[in-house]
Amino acid sequence: MRKALSREKLQGIYGQIAKRYDFLHAFLTAGTDQKGRRILVENAVRQGDRILDCGSGTGSAGLLAARLAGERGRVTLFDLSAEMLAVAREKAIREGLQDRVTFQTGDMARLPFADDSFDVVLSTYSLCPLDDPEQGALELFRVTRPGGRVAVAHSTEPENRLVRWLAGRIEDIAWRFPRLSMGCRAVSVVSVLERAGGWVVLAKRIGLPLWPFMLFIVEKPASPASSSPGAGCAPSTSSLRFCHQSPPPVLRKQS
Ligand SMILES: C[S@@+](CC[C@H](N)C(=O)[O-])C[C@H]1O[C@@H](n2cnc3c(N)ncnc32)[C@H](O)[C@@H]1O
Repeated sequence: MRKALSREKLQGIYGQIAKRYDFLHAFLTAGTDQKGRRILVENAVRQGDRILDCGSGTGSAGLLAARLAGERGRVTLFDLSAEMLAVAREKAIREGLQDRVTFQTGDMARLPFADDSFDVVLSTYSLCPLDDPEQGALELFRVTRPGGRVAVAHSTEPENRLVRWLAGRIEDIAWRFPRLSMGCRAVSVVSVLERAGGWVVLAKRIGLPLWPFMLFIVEKPASPASSSPGAGCAPSTSSLRFCHQSPPPVLRKQS
């Protein structure tokens, strides 16, 4: 895996591109970024949830979650970049969601929240620039309450060998222009969450052939007893149900 950019460098990059970020990211990913956020939020968030959006940037996922969680829902948008959060704040006000949302700067490698604090923790495209993405993923898991959900989207390697090679050459070029690469590279974190005891309840690949994304939702078991067959089922507003039919947990691939 490519060496991550320093936190100071990332802060500088995102500070400079904050106002153009939404357009730039949507353009580079041909809009598949928003599709990923929508799938995760619609399948992870329920009415009244306490939600943390980690590396929230301009808040695209967190604000979607705030809408879905309703008036009783609460969302914390957390990011390294004050400039990205300033754009998020403007969007929240425009959408009339400011009463449900709080904004906090900080480093997601060391989250300033107690264990088990949130019903849902989101990370959309924000583990990719971290120095240690696996450690970052474990932080998301730590602050999720038992029975809660960690919902992640991140860049991943293309499956086809030739396409992977080509994507690597394009990445070599993009990494010469940090404002283009945004410090993002393909990572892999789902297995560390499974080793930590999480259950994958949704897994899906989306994105462009040259820039694919991995989406997954991992549930933190409520208690050891909930690993018995049929336990852990809960109604969801979406077409997918969060339901563990039998141990080991079901890996649900969405086509
Ligand atoms: C590619 S953007 C993703 C933003 C947003 N989640 C989205 O869906 O568009 C990556 C974000 O992660 C933030 N970030 C990078 N390193 C971070 C860190 N160590 N702690 C908190 N945020 C970080 C950046 O400031 C940036 O806003």
